[in-house]
Order: sequence, then structure tokens, then C-alpha cells
Amino acid sequence: MNNEIATLTSARVTNRQDWNESLFSLTVHSPGTKYKAGQFTKLGMFDDKGELIRRAYSIINHPDEHEKTGDLEFLIVTDPEGSLSPLLHSLRTGDDVLIGLEGAGFMTLDEIPLDARDLWLVSSGTAIGPFLAMLNDRKIGYRFNHLVLVHAVRHASDLVYQKEINQLLQQYPGKFKYVPIVSREQTSGALSGRIPQLLKSGELENTACLQLNKKESFIYLCGNPEMVKDTSNSLKLMGLQKHLRKKTGQFSSENYW
Ligand SMILES: Cc1cc2nc3c(=O)[nH]c(=O)nc-3n(C[C@H](O)[C@H](O)[C@H](O)COP(=O)(O)OP(=O)(O)OC[C@H]3O[C@@H](n4cnc5c(N)ncnc54)[C@H](O)[C@@H]3O)c2cc1C
Ligand SMILES: NC(=O)c1ccc[n+]([C@@H]2O[C@H](COP(=O)([O-])OP(=O)(O)OC[C@H]3O[C@@H](n4cnc5c(N)ncnc54)[C@H](OP(=O)(O)O)[C@@H]3O)[C@@H](O)[C@H]2O)c1
Repeated sequence: MNNEIATLTSARVTNRQDWNESLFSLTVHSPGTKYKAGQFTKLGMFDDKGELIRRAYSIINHPDEHEKTGDLEFLIVTDPEGSLSPLLHSLRTGDDVLIGLEGAGFMTLDEIPLDARDLWLVSSGTAIGPFLAMLNDRKIGYRFNHLVLVHAVRHASDLVYQKEINQLLQQYPGKFKYVPIVSREQTSGALSGRIPQLLKSGELENTACLQLNKKESFIYLCGNPEMVKDTSNSLKLMGLQKHLRKKTGQFSSENYW
């Protein structure tokens, strides 16, 4: 067995949900995978030449839930030009897929400076996933005064997990704010445009009913690397700094490609 395969294990797909023609969620039974909320693991499949292709995918459900069910949930978008995502898109309940046994990544709650009081979780596309895992952490309600989930997508049909988001709104009334942004069509109840411009104009803060500030805010950015870069620049213009383990700042990020 080569090293790459040795770090993966075979697991059964136990559920599949299609949100639109390219966006879907897969649930995979993998009780042995160890991870923290916000982390990703690898999914792998063999292509038609027999070559193993594996990529990183964030885990949507909280480790406490995984402990009970052994299931891991992933939100995936198919890139028709891509190597692995079309193969994952072909999976059905009962099929097998290779999966990592370890979570990885530093976008977790324990990396956030202890004095941060307002947590802004800013995502594009499928990168809402790791934030849903974090928002289901039992400690999050008393650790933070405010929780803001920003989800920027192309189309209204990409605004996934509405049921879970409504549950969070009920669980944390006045504390949790959800700010959906749709860029390629007008959608009632969602902002229009892109995150960096909506930050610059003040519209994003107005909608969240919360101001970003150096003392209380911490922002995680996740998803499209161009979104991460442009949003980081907007935050810097607002006087906020990138967080490093050696030097405390107000924002940190994870790129999806
Ligand atoms: C830390 C991390 C976590 C990730 N988590 C997820 C996840 O939860 N869900 C998910 O769908 N993908 C996620 N990805 C991306 C994933 O690993 C693959 O890169 C993606 O599925 C494309 O693989 P592919 O083999 O089909 O395409 P490739 O042949 O590798 O082509 C990659 C191209 O696809 C585009 N692309 C890659 N990922 C995305 C994406 N998520 N949304 C839009 N365009 C994309 C980019 O243009 C990129 O150049 C994550 C990546 C990283 C690094
Ligand atoms: N989502 C779909 O309907 C769909 C359909 C078919 C295939 N796909 C596949 O999925 C991939 C894209 O998936 P996706 O829609 O989840 O992700 P995406 O292209 O990253 O778009 C998500 C959001 O990020 C925004 N964005 C892009 N660049 C930005 C920047 N520099 N600054 C700020 N915001 C930025 C987009 O705005 P803009 O709209 O202004 O770019 C959009 O609102 C494509 O490569 C394609 O292969 C997606």
C-alpha cells in the first residue's frame, strides 16, 4: 500500500442532498476520523486511469454530533473541469469513498484571541461549511457577545443550510446575525454585490447591526482566494490587522484553492 492510501480509509456514503445542479452535500460514515470544528479532511477516489486523486473538504457537522453518529458531512461544488469534484458528484448513498482519519487546519475556535468578543465568520461559496461546525459548538454562545455569519454566493439557490441557520437564529436571539449576499441576481432578504465593496460602503456592518473594531472583533475569512485577498485589503483599510500567533491581530483566513 502506498503512503497516500495508507492515510485514507474506505467509508460508506450514507446520505446525499442536492441543493442545485452543481452543489451537493455528502454524508460519509467514518467514526474513526478525529477533528476539531472548523477543520477539513481529505476525500479521495480513483480516476479512470487508476490514479488516486484526493483533495481537502471541510467538515460541516460538529465533533460532538460525529461522536454520536460516526457521520461526517461535506458541502461540495462540482467544477466540471475539475478532477475529483465530478467523481464525488457521481457518488450515491451506499457507494464507498476514501476518507482521511485526521482533521487538519488552524481555522478553529481555539486559535481565536481570548479577548475577542464579536466573531465574524465570512465565507464565499462552499466555505460556509466550517463555520456551521463552529457555530454548533456549545461554548460559542457564552464566549462571544455577537456572532455574524456572512455567506456570499452567486445565486440564491447557493444559499444552503437555511434550516440549520434558522435554528441558530432561534438559539441565539439578538446574538447571532446571518448576512446572505447574492452577486449574480437580485434576491429579497440578501445583500447584492461582493463582500469587500459592502464592507467599504458600510452596508455589511449596517445589516449585521454591528461595527467592526480593533478591540472586540475577530474575523475568519474562508473560501475563494480572491475574495480573501480583496476582503483582507478592505479590513486593513479599516485599520484591522492580520492575526499571527506571534502578533495578535483581528483577522485570519483559509483559502480553498
Ligand atoms: C482547506 C480546504 C478546504 C476545502 N474545503 C472544500 C469544501 O468544503 N467543499 C468544496 O467543494 N471544496 C473544498 N475545497 C476545494 C477542494 O479541495 C478541491 O480543490 C475542489 O473540489 C476542486 O477539486 P477538483 O479536483 O474537482 O478540481 P481541480 O482539478 O483541482 O481544479 C481546481 C479549480 O477548481 C476551482 N475550485 C476549487 N475549489 C472550489 C470551491 N470550493 N468552490 C469553487 N471553485 C473551486 C478553482 O478554480 C480551482 O482552480 C477545499 C480546499 C481547501 C484547500
Ligand atoms: N455556483 C454556481 O451556480 C455554479 C454553477 C456551475 C458551476 N459552478 C462551479 O463552481 C465554481 C464556483 O463556485 P462558487 O459559485 O461556489 O464560488 P465563487 O466563484 O467563489 O463565488 C462565490 C462568491 O464569491 C464572490 N467573489 C468572487 N471573487 C471575489 C472577489 N475577488 N472578491 C469578493 N467576492 C468575490 C462571487 O461574486 P461574483 O459572482 O461577483 O464573481 C460570489 O458571490 C466554478 O468554478 C464552477 O466550476 C458553480
